[in-house]
Amino acid sequence: MIQLQNITKSFGTLQVLKGIDLHIDKGEVVSIVGPSGAGKTTLLQIMGTLDTPDTGSICVDGVDVTRLKDKELARFRNQHLGFVFQFHQLLPEFTALENVCIPALIAGKSKKQTEVRAKELLDYLNLSDRIQHKPSELSGGEKQRVAVARALINNPSIILADEPSGSLDSKHKEELHQLFFDLRDKFGQTFVIVTHDETLSQLTDRTIHIKDGLIEEVIEVNEVKTQSNVNTTTGQEESTESLA
Ligand SMILES: Nc1ncnc2c1ncn2[C@@H]1O[C@H](COP(=O)(O)OP(=O)(O)O)[C@@H](O)[C@H]1O
Ligand SMILES: [Mg+2]
Repeated sequence: MIQLQNITKSFGTLQVLKGIDLHIDKGEVVSIVGPSGAGKTTLLQIMGTLDTPDTGSICVDGVDVTRLKDKELARFRNQHLGFVFQFHQLLPEFTALENVCIPALIAGKSKKQTEVRAKELLDYLNLSDRIQHKPSELSGGEKQRVAVARALINNPSIILADEPSGSLDSKHKEELHQLFFDLRDKFGQTFVIVTHDETLSQLTDRTIHIKDGLIEEVIEVNEVKTQSNVNTTTGQEESTESLA
């Protein structure tokens, strides 16, 4: 689904990523943790094609995205990747419904068809009575759920979330985390989530610890693995059938 090989990235003389290899399978919920400044956001932005690595390759759905040019890349990102940021990044002048529709309209889908799907998603996320509200009229938890609906509208292969619950209180935090697992369990949605929240990282299938630009440790939490079914290079199970 997503495969990173030897990703490096520097900003000036500061080498932020020093050679990251990572493979994410369909239906996995993976967390990325590590100290502030470790390079988590940079890695997520590179996975999301919002930034480019200095070296290495990124394959998403079998496409080497490092070879795509600007226009093709924007199109690919729109159709294959969904994003949820810490501060929702909804457009303030548009309603919840309009915000959710925007990525589908950019993808060239019809307004009518898009609105039907957006309403279904907002309904599923318990927001059906908020669809005509603008972001400033929504609570923090509601805004993040609208952002999740927007991320889902084009049926992305993977949703990349950077501290998605970082600005929420504990109740809304828990609701949002539960939503990620519901979407995985019901629709097989794949997530990569950068988080400081230990409760969340402990629930995810795999926790990638980043330190000083390298993967320091990978912890698989949802099942006991034997050496025989784990590829020791990638830490990946050879078969995905038994994923929780
Ligand atoms: N666009 C940029 N220009 C210069 N330095 C950057 C840029 N983006 C990130 N950095 C630096 O790279 C390091 C890693 O940043 P980041 O990936 O945001 O870390 P994290 O998300 O783990 O806190 C930090 O030292 C940060 O200041
Ligand atoms: Mg960050």
